[in-house]
Amino acid sequence: MRWIHAAGRGLLVLVVLLTGHVASGARADVGVESGRGPLTLATAGDLTGYLGPLLEGWNRDHPDEKVTLVELPDSADETRAQMATDLRDGDRHRFDVLNIDVNWTSEFAAAGWIRPLPRDRFPLDTFLPPVVDTATYDGRLYAVPYVTNAGLLLYRKDVLAEEGVPPPRTWAELERYAETIAPKHGLDGYAGQFLPYEGLTVNAAEAVYSAGGSILGDEGERVTVDSAAAREGIGFLARGVREGWIPKDALTYKEEESKQAFQDGRLLFLRNWPYAYVGASAADSKVAGKVGAVPLPGPDGPGTSVLGGSNLAVGTHARHPDSAARLIAYLTSERVQRQVLTRGALPPVRADLYEDPGLTEAFPYLPTLRESVLAAAPRPKSPRYDQVSLAVQAIVRDAMTGRQTPEAAVRRLARELAAISRR
Ligand code: GLC
Repeated sequence: MRWIHAAGRGLLVLVVLLTGHVASGARADVGVESGRGPLTLATAGDLTGYLGPLLEGWNRDHPDEKVTLVELPDSADETRAQMATDLRDGDRHRFDVLNIDVNWTSEFAAAGWIRPLPRDRFPLDTFLPPVVDTATYDGRLYAVPYVTNAGLLLYRKDVLAEEGVPPPRTWAELERYAETIAPKHGLDGYAGQFLPYEGLTVNAAEAVYSAGGSILGDEGERVTVDSAAAREGIGFLARGVREGWIPKDALTYKEEESKQAFQDGRLLFLRNWPYAYVGASAADSKVAGKVGAVPLPGPDGPGTSVLGGSNLAVGTHARHPDSAARLIAYLTSERVQRQVLTRGALPPVRADLYEDPGLTEAFPYLPTLRESVLAAAPRPKSPRYDQVSLAVQAIVRDAMTGRQTPEAAVRRLARELAAISRR
């Protein structure tokens, strides 16, 4: 049997050699091919600068399969656009392995840009359960979870302690403290990532989900956003800007700018990913030692975070698919996943690390984060996710700048999403 397999593989290699790439019609699972050699790994901006040094370890041990890091912009939308352009152009593509946002798996798989992967080559059963779902499309595995993420509310421990109040659990408490306590201490109240880009989609989805609403149902087939809960969620964000407890500056923030505002000591509350907790607690931060983290608040108690993070995928035209799969197995190994946390300040996908005593001591937010990830809700799944996200961003922006009431904004969003799902 073995020789039959080997002969089949030889034939495939011959096809690849003759055509220069695997034609998408003949797309095969990574496990079937044997190609080994150098690779590129494309990723969104590496905000904590850990990935280059981490890959040096791989390159030292695999001189014939060296990986070159291609770092794309910080903004998720720009990274997606560059990846899409590259993947569409099979002949001149540059990216072999792609570190894709969790919510792009469906779109990239449906477009035929990434390959299905064999489940048995990756340690999927060691991962936190919700992350595996973000890597599948149409019942097949199209990527391997690499980093997970959930939004947390960072707060100034020193200020709340001085006022004798616990961290907020509800929107009403958050609003009250942001409005009354923050100015007494020369601070702005609350910020998230409110520039129109993927971060705003995340913040808006969290507000809608926390109020009990949703955006799309049935893998993007059904529009569910026109609800009282969605109006309440968008209303919360719009009210913050109107009443001033969300500063106007926050309308220009992505992850980094909002983290900077908090660590410069300008904000009482910040919604961000856990990497911001690590940065704000570091020795060079003005608020080191004064930072706490709790689950995001919602209308009547803890709210719902969106599930963030990224998955590793292999481009359909990747030059060395076997090396690509080997690199992915390495990046999801226990040892490297530990470094993703300790050097990259990013949440690993391996479940056991959240209960590791050494790590929970160094990263005290890990238990809160684990709960937030397990309870997090995925963004709307849609093969046209990019258009869905653009509509959410543009319309929530109008509500936050007061150009449209939350009610009108939600109605318009429902109409636009319906038009996108008919396209
Ligand atoms: C983080 C998340 C990612 C999200 C992005 C939004 O990188 O991990 O899932 O899309 O932020 O800005």
